[in-house]
Amino acid sequence: MPRLFVAVWPPEDVIAELTALARKDRRGIRFVEPERWHLTLRFLGDAAVDDAAEALDRAELPAATVRLGPAVDVLDERALVIPASGLDHLAAAVNSATADVGEAPRRRFRGHLTVARVKASASMPPLLGALVEASFEASEVALVESTLHPDGARYDTIATWPLGVSPWWTDREDEAPARPPSAGLVGSAGSPASAGSPSGRAPGALEPTGVAAASVPPGRILELPGFDAVAWRSAAGDLCVVDARCPHQWSPFAFDGVVAGDELVCSAHGWCFDREGRGSKLAMNGRRDPKSNVEVLACREIEGEIWVERRGSPR
Ligand code: FES
Repeated sequence: MPRLFVAVWPPEDVIAELTALARKDRRGIRFVEPERWHLTLRFLGDAAVDDAAEALDRAELPAATVRLGPAVDVLDERALVIPASGLDHLAAAVNSATADVGEAPRRRFRGHLTVARVKASASMPPLLGALVEASFEASEVALVESTLHPDGARYDTIATWPLGVSPWWTDREDEAPARPPSAGLVGSAGSPASAGSPSGRAPGALEPTGVAAASVPPGRILELPGFDAVAWRSAAGDLCVVDARCPHQWSPFAFDGVVAGDELVCSAHGWCFDREGRGSKLAMNGRRDPKSNVEVLACREIEGEIWVERRGSPR
């Protein structure tokens, strides 16, 4: 079975711009050839091509403006990469559509273009830290097959899907099923959709959760047992605690949530929530459509522990 991934290929003018970067192979460092430069949205691994293609046929893939930079960086201590922003929502949509295909989606998406692979024994080349600035409008995603050859991996595009085009199906957003009983969670009170933004509310008494603040690093979402809530931390490091389930169709954030910059995104249908709990969805044409809010609970980090407002406590 081939190894598959879903990616965005940068346009030729951007590749031409990036080839100006100093790239010289040396012991322990192997530069990726420009024709193989890509931005992976989802690694599927060993998966059936038909399954992946059918999943992407059904996907609602938003348009994306990709920004590369600001400088060449290191990823996982073994790859030189150019960071890429602007792909979070698209990656969440691809993750959602292909959740049952191939390998499980990664919990955290980090947009990047790999320019070199570095062995642990090698020192970093001077390219590390080089300033980069490029951007482009992504027009399609590609399902790519990767095969290993003696001179490196070969990537073949199997099919592409345009961005910003509604698929043949609808996501039935008007359907709002009854909230299911909390799975292993207790203490839910009221509908998060009707709770609205907590702005202007005085927080109730805070209680310790027993969860270490360090266990929620930037980009992580963690269930808070006994609070019917999840804690998540934005890429900038701000901690936020919200109801455990998405107000759309009650998908649990602990499983379907993804942090995209300063937003919590429910990958089930792409609803986004800012730190105030305000809901929105990125439309196909790039417009932000308002959606129901999720309830935000007051929280603090006290001596390394997350403290949260107990719902129903006197204010
Ligand atoms: S359940 Fe539909 S967006 Fe969350």
